[in-house]
Amino acid sequence: MNSDIQSIVLSEKQIAEKVEKAAKWLDAKFEGTQSVPLMISVLKGSVMFFCDLVRAMDTPVQIDFMTVSSYGSSSESSGMQRIVMDLAASVEGRDVVLVEDIVDSGNTLVKMRDLISGRGAKSFTVVTLFDKPSRRTVNVSADYSCFEIGNEFIVGYGLDYAQKYRNLPYVGILKREIYEK
Ligand code: PRP
Repeated sequence: MNSDIQSIVLSEKQIAEKVEKAAKWLDAKFEGTQSVPLMISVLKGSVMFFCDLVRAMDTPVQIDFMTVSSYGSSSESSGMQRIVMDLAASVEGRDVVLVEDIVDSGNTLVKMRDLISGRGAKSFTVVTLFDKPSRRTVNVSADYSCFEIGNEFIVGYGLDYAQKYRNLPYVGILKREIYEK
């Protein structure tokens, strides 16, 4: 285990189980649907989850990517979002599935929901790996959450602290001394 990690929250095996369940939920949701859902990864945090999720699904999907930045290198959300990279595809008339690594304050989700709805999406579904409901500052929630967590500072499997730890294959709690020094 990485020496900056206090404890593991989700092992590789546990992540794979959560991903499989989320994929099945999406397959059931879109069963019989003629249109091809557009799966959107909110970069960079969701990239690992997204790649595993779309590969675990049976439903034919299209994929696209968007980068929205809110945190900078701090561990606290600023509430300010900036579109760093926009989608390539049009969402008009599409069933859109937004894939997040974490819903924290909810600010990013509200921004994405308003943007995608405003562009005329037919439906908007949110799947997140982690949900921190106790941290919410706006009234918004994911349609499917793999794992609910308290206020621990978690990293790995896409989640970062100061752009580090994203490539850990598991999710762990970062030692306090790392982000308080
Ligand atoms: C993180 C995470 C979500 C957002 C959630 O992204 O990936 O998109 O914050 O926080 P919120 O609910 O308080 O808005 P971040 O801006 O850290 O970028 P990253 O995905 O590149 O790590």
